[in-house]
Amino acid sequence: MSIETTGHDHDPFRIGCAVDADALDDPVYRQLIPRLFRLITPENAMKFVSLRPSRDVFDFAAADRVMELAEAEGLAVRGHTLAWHSQLSEWVGELPAGERADVLRDHIHTVVGRYSGRIEQWDVVNEPLDDDGAPRRTPWFEASGIDYIADAFRWAHEADPSARLFINDYNVEDLGEKSDAYYVLVQRLLAEGVPIHGFGAQGHRIVGDPPTTMRENLQRFADLGLQVALTEVDIRMPVGVDEASVACVNAADLERQASDYTTMVAAARAVPECTAFVLWGLSDGHSWIPETFAGFGAAHVLDGRLQPKPAFDAVFGEQAQAAVEVEAALP
Ligand code: XIL
Repeated sequence: MSIETTGHDHDPFRIGCAVDADALDDPVYRQLIPRLFRLITPENAMKFVSLRPSRDVFDFAAADRVMELAEAEGLAVRGHTLAWHSQLSEWVGELPAGERADVLRDHIHTVVGRYSGRIEQWDVVNEPLDDDGAPRRTPWFEASGIDYIADAFRWAHEADPSARLFINDYNVEDLGEKSDAYYVLVQRLLAEGVPIHGFGAQGHRIVGDPPTTMRENLQRFADLGLQVALTEVDIRMPVGVDEASVACVNAADLERQASDYTTMVAAARAVPECTAFVLWGLSDGHSWIPETFAGFGAAHVLDGRLQPKPAFDAVFGEQAQAAVEVEAALP
């Protein structure tokens, strides 16, 4: 492949991608990631359930594979994620509540400490609020109340003072009840001196319903002194099957999807403090959507055969030429 990425090395805004550690065995996948992206995040490899088969065991094999790719290719890394209610090892829920804070502290110190100086941004706390803005009753909340959030940030900062520490959630791209609750929470954390440096909006969307107030929303967090990022963008659409049982999408949806990606990239780029726009999967063939949202799929900028969709140009702009060359180089 004779492709040069046209990333601007000094532009703080990076297009990134969630990387599936298992897919790195596929040489085409392994080569495409650094050609298209300047930042990666492990899709699953740094989640609690991946790292912690038991209380006494840390398994860093998959996480290390993602770090090796990043370091071999000079890609920035967003670590994902430390305190979350999902993909949490079952043994945590079985512990007496009084022991959970110790487990979380040990987890954060060990994981963040292992990669200290090598991970630019960490999603320290993921999805801590419900859609109405109330605290989600996670195993961590049940053990320590809302203070687990501040504790998690402090522990992460102790383990790596150079990492930029994010709070992250879905349905917070626009102004609204849930993002308002984050705005209040972040202000309180800052007032208490908690080392929080970033607000992440995941960006899982449905085609035809793009954010409308994303720039204003992200800018108000930036005005508090935070970085902001779009951390997990995908835009899903209905997927049917034709008479030959082949998966098919509506051509108009592909155009709407491109338009929605354009809207989101433009809004993110319009916020100078926005440091990343991360696609949650390389292609429609590397996607969590079909198994999670029945009847939906085709959420990504490359299709299942790694061919660029209209959304590819929307995200990569002048880098679209790279896709043509990628296509020519596919086996
Ligand atoms: C998803 C992964 O993409 C799937 O492979 C996994 O089975 C479930 O989690 N919000 C998040 C991400 O913060 O970690 C989730 O990733 C998608 C929703």
